[in-house]
Amino acid sequence: MRKDVHLTPKTLDELKGDPGSARSDLEKEFGSLGVIVMPGEAEAPILTPPVRGALHQWLFEMNSDEDLKAVGLKPRSRCLLSGPPGCGKTTLAHHISARLGVPMLVMQSSEIIGKYLGESARNLSKTFRAARRNRYDIALFFDEFDALAKSRAGLGSEGADNERSNITITLLQEFDRYDGLLFAATNVTKDIDPAIWRRFQLQIEIGFPGAAERFAIVRLYMAPFQLQDEVIAALAAIFEDASPALIREGCEAIKRSLVLGPRMKLATDLPSIIERFAASAAASEGMPEPLLWREPRQCLRDLADLPWPPERAA
Ligand SMILES: Nc1ncnc2c1ncn2[C@@H]1O[C@H](COP(=O)(O)OP(=O)(O)OP(=O)(O)O)[C@@H](O)[C@H]1O
Ligand SMILES: [Mg+2]
Repeated sequence: MRKDVHLTPKTLDELKGDPGSARSDLEKEFGSLGVIVMPGEAEAPILTPPVRGALHQWLFEMNSDEDLKAVGLKPRSRCLLSGPPGCGKTTLAHHISARLGVPMLVMQSSEIIGKYLGESARNLSKTFRAARRNRYDIALFFDEFDALAKSRAGLGSEGADNERSNITITLLQEFDRYDGLLFAATNVTKDIDPAIWRRFQLQIEIGFPGAAERFAIVRLYMAPFQLQDEVIAALAAIFEDASPALIREGCEAIKRSLVLGPRMKLATDLPSIIERFAASAAASEGMPEPLLWREPRQCLRDLADLPWPPERAA
């Protein structure tokens, strides 16, 4: 049975009416394959203007399938997301699924790769079969996709190599048969099999945020505190080369200190809060070192004399 990318009004009503029961149905069906995330739980990531533009066009396309059908086209439905950890790949896939009103099944590719020969290709087919016959439309999300879609170049015909080839062939077949929304995410694109790569009609790279995005991210995660623009800009500056995930951690540390600091008799001026945060967090191995850790003294000096503490929205 063919499925459209977006939901029928009936299914949408069911999801809106009682997401709890839709979730438990879905968990019964897919629980062993991955984790179900529902549309209502999605958050909108902050992205650079070119990425936002590409996504806007894609969403528009998915809502205009009749117009496309008239010229022999179908909306694109397979998207490969690449970029460093914590920059929003999972968040973005969840957000797009939610904009289309569909739940998403998040699968770890390493878990699909079975321990026994032949198991992985069977696990994959099982996943696609379940997604095709499910009464809800569901988006599929393959995390750590490089583990599943490594290039076949240089493979021989022995056991493990055969298994790799089988996985690739199964993926190619299943991709061609699956009409639903499908995402894959990876930190490393260089090893992905070219034939699989080609099956993704969108390849979106989400890199580190620029200054404008960091500003928006700080403002977002500092809510309900209302920082003045010069404070937001100063925080955005010390987080140069940081992932949105790390900036979020920093903002949450500031909020925790503002709320609990006085009771714990901790200093709550901005440089002291940030100094404690810098001592308790770091970018993960292999990631660039953000400015706060490269130039801590200068950063703390830049944070002194700003309007502080912030007001809290009622
Ligand atoms: N672009 C963004 N805008 C706002 N928040 C973001 C953004 N990217 C990440 N975050 C926040 O950081 C956290 C981690 O993001 P997410 O899991 O989407 O990253 P990822 O790219 O999938 O990382 P990984 O490669 O480790 O899977 C989320 O809680 C999300 O709220
Ligand atoms: Mg992720």
